[in-house]
Amino acid sequence: MKRMLSGIKPTGQLTLGNYIGALRNFVNYQDEYEMIVFIANLHCITNYQDPPALRKNLKDAIALYLACGLDPEKATIFLQTDVHEHAELGYIMACMTYLGELNRMTQFKDKVAKGETNLSAGMYTYPCLMAADILLYNPDYVPVGDDQKQHVELTRDLAHRFNNLYSETFKMPEPLVAKVGARIMSLDDPSKKMSKSDRGDKGCIYLLDDPKTARKKIMSAVTDSVGIIQLDQKNQPGLYNLIEIASALSNRDMEDIVKEFKGKGYGELKKYVADVVCAELERIQSRYYEIINSDTIEKVIADGAIKAQRIAYKTLSKVKRKVGLEIR
Ligand code: AMP
Ligand code: TRP
Repeated sequence: MKRMLSGIKPTGQLTLGNYIGALRNFVNYQDEYEMIVFIANLHCITNYQDPPALRKNLKDAIALYLACGLDPEKATIFLQTDVHEHAELGYIMACMTYLGELNRMTQFKDKVAKGETNLSAGMYTYPCLMAADILLYNPDYVPVGDDQKQHVELTRDLAHRFNNLYSETFKMPEPLVAKVGARIMSLDDPSKKMSKSDRGDKGCIYLLDDPKTARKKIMSAVTDSVGIIQLDQKNQPGLYNLIEIASALSNRDMEDIVKEFKGKGYGELKKYVADVVCAELERIQSRYYEIINSDTIEKVIADGAIKAQRIAYKTLSKVKRKVGLEIR
């Protein structure tokens, strides 16, 4: 069975973008692949997080993984800090990464271009830790949203460099970006990614949003003045995004949805999108409330950590030996 690995960084509440671009796919893959998913809590603190809020977001993220249908019998689910090898290999990877490579990372460049100040060293070296997250488990595939592809490519470069410098150690991981839903856009500004960082804004649907609130956000989503239901991402990005959301959640082709709504008003289409989204939210939330009020989470995470540690320990021991860090 081929192995697949991915992580989510829950610095805020999980969004519909996370679900469509990442989580939902993990659930679909768990029967076909050996699935390893983790909560990237070290990645969360590259900027300050309020501790009680962080704790809540981590717990919610695990509950939501399970509520969305990840099955701990099939998938290994764990918390990054429960497996110390991540931080250790992260440091070794940082020693193998050139400053030029980190300077080229789009996420970092964007922050600099936006004039963000007080960027931490952790934020800068975060792709090295992400490379370690991946390489510890030698996965065949890494399913990610569009924005993370560059980090997986750096991971491949580092794996290649390590293998050349020492000897064949790491497998080349392939990034896997879904065709539909890799980049869900904000509902009130379809030029921006739907993101948990714009908390409270009308453009982002959270998985724990009350369905009424979610419906309101969809009904007031920004569209255009063209007035025709068709697929024109360039000139009608808001409409395109709504159709993409509905398509991803209903497993229908975007063209098929367009055909159904041809000649109708945007209001009708929005109502359909809202129905699809709300049905999915209700399904996820009813499971979530069951899980969050039980002791399932602690057990799942404890079991997951043991399974993950076993794999990570082996890889890191091999790496330390090859690098010359061990005296035996
Ligand atoms: P993040 O929330 O940035 O930690 O992302 C977790 C996962 O969800 C990554 O694989 C992202 O690429 C994916 N993701 C986040 N936001 C979106 C979005 N708006 N559309 C599609 N995928 C997303
Ligand atoms: N950087 C990813 C994000 O922001 C989260 C992440 C951390 C990850 N380590 C990973 C994803 C390893 C895939 C594989 O979304």
